[in-house]
Amino acid sequence: MTRVVVVGSINMDLVTLARRFAGPGETILGERFLTVHGGKGANQAVAAARLGAEVALVGAVGDDAFGSELHAGLAREGISPEHVARIADCGSGTASITVAGGENQIIVVPAANARVTPAQVERAQATLARADAILVQMEIPLDAVEATLRLGHRLGRPVILNPAPAQPLPVEWLQLARYLTPNQHELAILLGADTHADFRSLMLRAPAPVVLTRGGEGAWYRDGDDTVHQPGFKVEVVDTTGAGDTFNAALAVFLHEGLPDAVRKACAAAALSVTRLGAQGGMPTCAELDRWLAQH
Ligand code: RIB
Repeated sequence: MTRVVVVGSINMDLVTLARRFAGPGETILGERFLTVHGGKGANQAVAAARLGAEVALVGAVGDDAFGSELHAGLAREGISPEHVARIADCGSGTASITVAGGENQIIVVPAANARVTPAQVERAQATLARADAILVQMEIPLDAVEATLRLGHRLGRPVILNPAPAQPLPVEWLQLARYLTPNQHELAILLGADTHADFRSLMLRAPAPVVLTRGGEGAWYRDGDDTVHQPGFKVEVVDTTGAGDTFNAALAVFLHEGLPDAVRKACAAAALSVTRLGAQGGMPTCAELDRWLAQH
């Protein structure tokens, strides 16, 4: 069984469905409201678990009601909670999400996620040492991201850095990653480049191999001095929240099959994930993914 360790955020997603987004200073009526489990770290952990991996998550929730619910949700998905801290006198992370016309707008309040520390990552060393792949994103403090990259590198385990939400990072950190998995916008920010720059040129000058996602268009990865395009799969889009997380999880789970196959499966898993509501709502199981790939 593939072992995946995720270091990242855990949020309660407060999702409002509306016909359109409200403008500044405007109040509009929405159509539906729901609370669903989210956070890039937790989403990636859940997607990897559904795809059949043995998964551990390093992260933090608060000691509020959301924290209890989120903790129980991870356990239901079979994710090891050993390294999920419960922070006293602290709220859990939240994401206020509006979904309109298949697009979303998200505001994240990190709360307990801001209390993930390098020491907590170091304490998970034995777990990271057994990982076939380590996933980390940027909704936790950057020193914890750095600690994950350094520890993974020291242990000789492949770290996939999903630089979302993006901000520029030192080249030396990026070189510690086995793969960077930004979208076009995130890659430009990560490298401190113009966001209108040609993404293929940016991929070729990045300090670590890039697997770049472009929504429904699919993904690009580097092969020598060239980039290869894996086209996306056509589906009816309901909610794109969590599609990137599903992509990253599948990439980690199937990395041992080689990059081209892993990217194809990651595109397929991400496509399936957008056909249902909620970040974790549409994440496929391994059987669903296999069935779907056999038909496409
Ligand atoms: O990537 C999607 C996630 O981003 C949501 O679940 C939300 O919690 C935000 O962290």
